[in-house]
Amino acid sequence: MPYNDTFLRAARKQPVETLPVWYMRQAGRYDPDYRKIKETHSLLEICLKPELAAEVTMMPVKKLGVDAAILYSDIMNPVASIGVDFDIVKNVGPVIANPIRTAADIEKLRPIDVDKDLSHIMETIRILDRELDVPLITFAGAPFTIASYLIEGRPSKSYIRTKEMMYAEPQLWHSLMNKLGDMVITYLKAQMANGAKAIQLFDSWVGALSPDDFKQFVYPVIQRIFAELSDLPQPKIYFPGVASGELLPYLRELQADVIGLDWRVPIAEGRRRVGPGFAVQGNMDPYLLTAPMPVIQAKAKQIIDEGCREPGYIFNLGHGLFPEASLDKLKELTAFVHEYSREVLSA
Ligand code: CP3
Repeated sequence: MPYNDTFLRAARKQPVETLPVWYMRQAGRYDPDYRKIKETHSLLEICLKPELAAEVTMMPVKKLGVDAAILYSDIMNPVASIGVDFDIVKNVGPVIANPIRTAADIEKLRPIDVDKDLSHIMETIRILDRELDVPLITFAGAPFTIASYLIEGRPSKSYIRTKEMMYAEPQLWHSLMNKLGDMVITYLKAQMANGAKAIQLFDSWVGALSPDDFKQFVYPVIQRIFAELSDLPQPKIYFPGVASGELLPYLRELQADVIGLDWRVPIAEGRRRVGPGFAVQGNMDPYLLTAPMPVIQAKAKQIIDEGCREPGYIFNLGHGLFPEASLDKLKELTAFVHEYSREVLSA
């Protein structure tokens, strides 16, 4: 098979013949073969076995026909290397043994050591670089999103302790953002040196902040991360997560190539808010996949029509796939986006 670079061209705002498609959380529990592997391996055990992690990464590429692979890993993996003990608990998510809440806790965080602690992930990336005929996207969690787990100790709806640190001890907060920023920069550079063709920074929960707080407490470290990666040629995606529409106008100067949108902001409006410098990615509501196929296609059509209006659009969901999603519908949706966008783009 010839190498499929549609995703890379769209990320660089170059013309394409069909829209590229991939799905956040495309490797996962909606797939019976993945569930079978999970019967004998935890997520972290899969990540420790490069051949198996590469196989799981490739499963959705083969089954769904998507135009990019996303490394099978988790945003929490690098925090083990800075000295944070965590587990991914079934039906809960990341759980931290000793939450990070004081100056002493932050002081103790070490610099990341990719060679010593994350060589298995680098090996997975090198295997995938050899085997894939679509681009490999690798990723890191952004400082706010990682900090929300480290401080709360587990998934949260209110982010009460995270916001408490941010408001009550801003200096401490910024020192944590900077340490996590350093971790992210080193980790993403290593991923790209080992063969990643694009990176995505997942800031899944930053939409919990007001625009002003985003600007004051989070934007500086996001800006620094992308500035420090700007010499590397790979396209870079910032995903500001769910409910992030009001943050989009603050991203105009970011040295990223692509901005991820959730379903609350239409593609054309998202483009208007971030400005002409970016490609955009998204933004179908993942739970639309519960609908019958004609309803899914009608909504997808609207998104595709807006996306095709100018170069620089990547079809995706507005957030990750959920375990109850249907593999057959995903396969059909992927084919539909390819076919229908080919018609629109050639018209
Ligand atoms: O297919 C892919 O997208 C690649 C793999 C991937 C995982 N996590 C594997 C995983 C990616 C890109 C992530 C990123 C991630 N992890 C994010 C950002 C994306 C998002 O959804 O907002 C976040 C916030 C996490 C933290 C995390 N990990 C949570 C909240 C959970 C539990 C939620 C759940 O659905 O159970 C995890 C566990 C996790 N990470 C699973 C997978 C496939 C599900 C459990 C499992 O299969 O073991």
